[in-house]
Amino acid sequence: MHTVITKDPAEAASFIKRGGSVVFPTETVYGIGACAEDHSACQALYQIKGRPQDNPLIIHLAESSAIFEHAYVPKKYEDFIQHFSPGAITYILKKKNQQLFSTGLPSIGLRVPTANFTRNFLHAAALPVAAPSANLSGKPSITKSYYAKLEFSGRVDCILTGPDAEIGLESTIIDLTCEPAVILRPGGIALTDIQKFIPGASLLATPVGTTPKSPGLKYKHYAPHCKVSLVAELPEAKDKKIGRIGFHFTGSSSIDRKLQSNIQYMKELYSFFLDCDSLGIEEAFCEMPIRDKWFDSLMNRLRKAASLD
Ligand code: TXA
Ligand code: MG
Repeated sequence: MHTVITKDPAEAASFIKRGGSVVFPTETVYGIGACAEDHSACQALYQIKGRPQDNPLIIHLAESSAIFEHAYVPKKYEDFIQHFSPGAITYILKKKNQQLFSTGLPSIGLRVPTANFTRNFLHAAALPVAAPSANLSGKPSITKSYYAKLEFSGRVDCILTGPDAEIGLESTIIDLTCEPAVILRPGGIALTDIQKFIPGASLLATPVGTTPKSPGLKYKHYAPHCKVSLVAELPEAKDKKIGRIGFHFTGSSSIDRKLQSNIQYMKELYSFFLDCDSLGIEEAFCEMPIRDKWFDSLMNRLRKAASLD
C-alpha cells in the first residue's frame, strides 16, 4: 500500500472522509484512525494492527459538546466531563449515535484530545474518528513521528506527522455506565484529580480468572521484544547489552535515559522501549517510579511490560 506522509491536518483528514486509515499524533500517544461511522474502515484497523476483534476502539471528537451528541451522559457527570475535556481521558458511556462502530457493545468510549494539532485534524475530518493506539498489537505505543513512519509506512493510507506526544502514556479510561464509576485504565489524568469530582471512583482490580470489564485489559501490552525488568536499583552493564531508564545511575550502558520526574518518565517510556528494540538490547531495566500521583499510571504500563500482570 502506498502511504502518503503529510504535515497537513486537512490533507490527512481527506483520507478519513474517503474511508481510509490515518496514523495521527495526539498528546497521549499516536492513534490509527478511521471514520467511526464507516464500519468497514474501522474493521480494516484490526487487520492493520493485528488487533483481536473483540477489543473496541476509542472514538475521538473535535469538541467536548459532541460527547453529548454521541452518548447519553448521566446528569451528575456533566460537570465532570466539561471539566476534564478536552483531555487525556476517555469516558465509557451508553451509546446514543447508533451509527458508531462499537464491536456490538451498547457502550462507547469517547475522547476529545487536547493537542491543537490533533483537533485541527478532527475539525477538518468533521466526523467522529475511531482510533486505537498506533502500535502493532502488544507492542509499545508510538509517541514520536519517527516511529510512526518506521512502523506504519506501507500499512496505512496516510501518516500525519506532528509534535511528539506531550504526555506519552495513553488516556485514563473511566467507565461512567456503572455505579460507582470505575477507572478501567489509569493514564494521562491522575486518579486523585478524578476523585476530587467523583470521590467514589477507584481503580479497577480484576481478580485473576475473571472476565475483564474492558476487553483490552486481557491482552498483553506495551512490551518491547527484549526482556523488561522493573527494579528498585538500576544495575550496571556487565556482559550483556542493556538499556536503563530511571533516576539513579552508576556507570553507563547502551541506552541510559536519565529522568528528573514521573512526568518525564511517562513521556520517555515508550520511545525508550522502541529504542531498545532498534538497538538490539537484550534486557531493559526500569527503575520504580516516584510515589506521586502518576505512580499508578506508570506502574500499570511497567508491570505489563515486565509481564508481572
Ligand atoms: O490515549 C489513548 O487513549 C489512545 C489515543 C490514540 O487516543 N488510544 C488508545 O486506544 O489507547 P487503545 O485502543 O489502545 O485502547 C483503548 C482501550 C482498550 O483497552 C479497549 O478495550 C477500551 O479502551 N475500550 C474502548 N471502548 C470500550 C468500551 N465501550 N467499554 C470498555 N472498554 C472500552
Ligand atoms: Mg493500545
